[in-house]
Amino acid sequence: MVLKVKEGMTPQEIEEFTSHALLEMTLKEKVHLMSGYDFYKIFLKDRGKGRSVIPGGGLERLDIPPFRFIDGPRGVVIPGSTCFPVSMARGASWDITLEEEIGEVIGKEVRAHGGNLYGAPCINLLRHPAWGRAQETYGEDPYHLGELGSALSRGVQKHNVMATIKHFAANSIEYSRFKVNVVMNERTLREVYLPHFKKCIENGCATVMSAYNKINDKYCGHNAHLLREILKGDWQFKGYVHSDWMDGLYDTVAGIKGGLDVEMPRAKHYGKKLIKAVEKGEVSIDLIDDAARRIIWTVLRYTTKVDLQQYPPDLVGCEEHINLSRKVAEKSMVLLKNSNNLLPLEMNTLKKLAIFGRLADLKNTGDHGSSQVHQDNIITPLQGIKRFVEDKVEIIYNDGKDLEEIKNLSKNANAVIAVVGYTFRDEGEYVRQFIRKAGDRESLKLKERDKNLILAASEQNSNVIVVIVGGSAVILEQWIDNVKAILMAWYPGMEGGTALAEIIFGKVNPSGKLPFTIPKNESDLPFFKTHIDEIEYGYYHGYTLMEKKGIVPRFPFGFGLSYTQYEYSNLIVNTSEDSIKVSIDVSNIGKMPGEEVVQVYVGFEQSNIDRPKKLLKGFRKVFLNSNQTQKISIEIPKEELGWYNPETKMWEIEDIKYTIYVGSSSKEEDLISTEIIF
Ligand code: BGC
Repeated sequence: MVLKVKEGMTPQEIEEFTSHALLEMTLKEKVHLMSGYDFYKIFLKDRGKGRSVIPGGGLERLDIPPFRFIDGPRGVVIPGSTCFPVSMARGASWDITLEEEIGEVIGKEVRAHGGNLYGAPCINLLRHPAWGRAQETYGEDPYHLGELGSALSRGVQKHNVMATIKHFAANSIEYSRFKVNVVMNERTLREVYLPHFKKCIENGCATVMSAYNKINDKYCGHNAHLLREILKGDWQFKGYVHSDWMDGLYDTVAGIKGGLDVEMPRAKHYGKKLIKAVEKGEVSIDLIDDAARRIIWTVLRYTTKVDLQQYPPDLVGCEEHINLSRKVAEKSMVLLKNSNNLLPLEMNTLKKLAIFGRLADLKNTGDHGSSQVHQDNIITPLQGIKRFVEDKVEIIYNDGKDLEEIKNLSKNANAVIAVVGYTFRDEGEYVRQFIRKAGDRESLKLKERDKNLILAASEQNSNVIVVIVGGSAVILEQWIDNVKAILMAWYPGMEGGTALAEIIFGKVNPSGKLPFTIPKNESDLPFFKTHIDEIEYGYYHGYTLMEKKGIVPRFPFGFGLSYTQYEYSNLIVNTSEDSIKVSIDVSNIGKMPGEEVVQVYVGFEQSNIDRPKKLLKGFRKVFLNSNQTQKISIEIPKEELGWYNPETKMWEIEDIKYTIYVGSSSKEEDLISTEIIF
């Protein structure tokens, strides 16, 4: 062997090394690359203490580095790492630059722990808010998902760490994830459930994790249409596909023929069984070579760049990273209601503030599945507020069990903050081997005790602020009219309490916007069932469904209030051969500096086929001082207008008038528009 693995290999050297390696390797060595190993030993040793790095692949004889997996996406799961707000919160920040910064911090911490393969971004589309792992993804819209997921993987991959997009694809019912057959037509698959995966691949995301479920009768890990024709064929993905972990590969021959390159976390169907299948002629050696080539090439391409910096252990959970976690929480909380401008609270005039709810003083950063970041240093809402007000405001805390006491305490307080919502017991990853209460949510409403707490407090106090902790939409109809303010705080990470206090007292102006639609009724959503063998995913969900049916949601996709007001004017749209250039003046006409999420939608009202009324096709988060106006330019590549024609098997662009909408949410009244012809 002439070539050696070294830092800073050129693309050509990587190609040459990979080809030489394949010539030198035995079948056994190639197959060895194709699975994780030692998993159960590590797992058992590790139990309860968080995760260790899980290795796989690699070949010492030729210096081919193994991949060393660590999970995400809330941060790095190994104890002590920085715990960020969950991905759904980050989706609500609509901040691409911030997501890339998070990716960088995560990449550095992965390296400091000795890993080189990171288990995120999770970009499954939120079809229904009851999905238990909603918190791990970014929202309901494919364009938005693709932008956020790409940003995270770009950040992570700056540090010789491979990112993985998961779970490919249509994985969005937790209790049934191991068995459900998701049925959908080709247009729905290509236009709704896959574009975000494609975008991440185009942005260089190194690896793909297949999902447990089936699509159109084939397990995703065996699905040649998905893995071979679309991913590796149409999208020309050069990296490798690895299986999800709890037996995400179900059969040796079906897996390799379907396009699954690596079985994680151990060789159950690959390993010896795969060698046998090749020897018996059931599997061609070309398929093994293709998988081995992808693995070697990817590991070298993404983990051997010359390091820009060192990755010592004290990087993990350091002050700079914790500060970023706080900044993310500040930028992701969504102010849904603020009657009479109750918020921000004025510390000088406020004497007594009541804080209620069992969640107010709970370390509550999200589910306890594979994405749990083991971090003890967590600021709860109560701690954050107490620290913020010091001794300037009297704080009364009550967990909310005794409603008579709540009423009494509410009477004498100037304002009430009720912290309500969920914990890992209510929603999260369903892990069948362990007895845990998690999985999909049974109801989209708050629990009775939370509802009763809100109603009891609001009976006696007209200044009730509801803070919701959770990973996705909550139906608010039973109590929304009884309260003045509602703040969606998500699972806000280790510094969530600090960020919450800063928003409540106006040190920070809220700037988050909903990455999904909040309906008035569950019946406004697509059909969903937690325990189900087969389900059809239709072309419409979220805002596209509501707009198609003319249903008015409680809060639209992209909605969020601020302590200031923004005005949009001067919309100019120019088209060139391959893109649409949108320019708009955005002004902060209020008294406080703030950040606005400028959203661009393309309307397909004049389409000759069945299409959504409009779709998000661009956005930008901008900071504006009070009285400042900024011209914002957003470019939409022409191909974003395409639809997938299942008959021609091509993406096509209709020769029609399109409407360009620009504004602060997907609601018609929040948008200004103009028509264009391409
Ligand atoms: C989850 C993945 C995770 C893997 C390893 C699986 O059950 O679905 O998201 O990366 O476990 O922890």
